[in-house]
Amino acid sequence: MSLQITPVTPSDPTSFDQYLAAAAVLHKHETPAFPPTTRKQLSSMFEHPWPGNVQERYVASAEGEVVGYVSVEHYTEDNPDMANLDLGVLPEHRRRGHGRELLAFAEERARDLGKKTVNTHSMWTLPELDLVAPDEDGPAFARAMGYRDALPEVNRVLDLSTVDESVLDGMLEHARAKADGYRLIRWNDPTPDDIVHDIAYLDGRLLADAPMGDTGWEPMNVDAERVRKTEAAIIARGRTSYHTGMVHSDTGRVVAWTTITADDEFDWHAWQQITIVDPDHRGHRLGALVKVENLRWFREQNPKVTAIDTFNAAENGYMIAINEQMGFRPQYAFQNWRKDF
Ligand SMILES: CC(C)(COP(=O)(O)OP(=O)(O)OC[C@H]1O[C@@H](n2cnc3c(N)ncnc32)[C@H](O)[C@@H]1OP(=O)(O)O)[C@@H](O)C(=O)NCCC(=O)NCCS
Repeated sequence: MSLQITPVTPSDPTSFDQYLAAAAVLHKHETPAFPPTTRKQLSSMFEHPWPGNVQERYVASAEGEVVGYVSVEHYTEDNPDMANLDLGVLPEHRRRGHGRELLAFAEERARDLGKKTVNTHSMWTLPELDLVAPDEDGPAFARAMGYRDALPEVNRVLDLSTVDESVLDGMLEHARAKADGYRLIRWNDPTPDDIVHDIAYLDGRLLADAPMGDTGWEPMNVDAERVRKTEAAIIARGRTSYHTGMVHSDTGRVVAWTTITADDEFDWHAWQQITIVDPDHRGHRLGALVKVENLRWFREQNPKVTAIDTFNAAENGYMIAINEQMGFRPQYAFQNWRKDF
């Protein structure tokens, strides 16, 4: 039986609604503790794409019934050989060949675009952290389709009702003792003009510095113009970012930076995003310092938030140690899968 695969666009309310409904089923099945994707967010993704990023979304039906979706994400400014696929088949429609057909469609699309490597992801079971995936379908499917595991990732959540302020005080005290010669700054988007080049540099370093396993992702080419375009999309999508940085007094440069972002669709939730310290300035506890200071500032401004989620590569020991100390606890694990054409 063959699937009907329809492109999703905001101008086609049927495909748009079907995609949203299918994504909601997968969300409830896999990651119910995360905020779901709302109609407004999905529209915003079409209206305000990330610079250098193209997202194609499709919804799949069999005999008139929606059975799943797939998206193909590709890039114009870096990682030109890569595509990232997101694929889901509704639990009650599995093991009928729909996943195989949807994946073949997405891979063909990636090949037509000239891509040489595709990545995708699934839930993952990590017994050492007591994390159990809702099912083992994703990994079994990925392996059967010729993908190899490229990078396990762990989501941790900070339940703000459990934060121990005395632990945070201790972290700050310990960090400040090693951070002479640096001063703290904070800002909301847009990034102030005088630091935008430093932020571009740090942002571009992230994929070079964070463990990327075997995924094949190359560092992004980030300049001030790209920072501006990205933050314009963030603001237009209804997100408010809280940034804390450390400026090295001798050079005047921002050498450490972290961000928490809240979406105006949810007053209870936020994402802990990037944290990065310039390699020349590591060993001064600047990572811990910016994270704790940013968390406190964010909470003052957003007293209704109860949960903050973050992602790390399972092997990112330094960042995980800081997160665990702050009170972040493992919630979901994921595996990134890779296939080369
Ligand atoms: C992964 C997923 C898309 C598979 O969809 P599906 O329609 O059930 O997949 P198919 O029926 O086309 O399966 C193709 C092959 O994958 C393998 N497979 C799929 N699920 C499996 C399972 N639970 N156990 C063992 N093998 C499995 C089998 O080899 C199967 O072929 P077969 O049925 O002829 O033996 C679906 O389970 C899903 O949406 N999971 C959650 C989202 C996800 O993990 N997506 C990314 C996957 S990389």
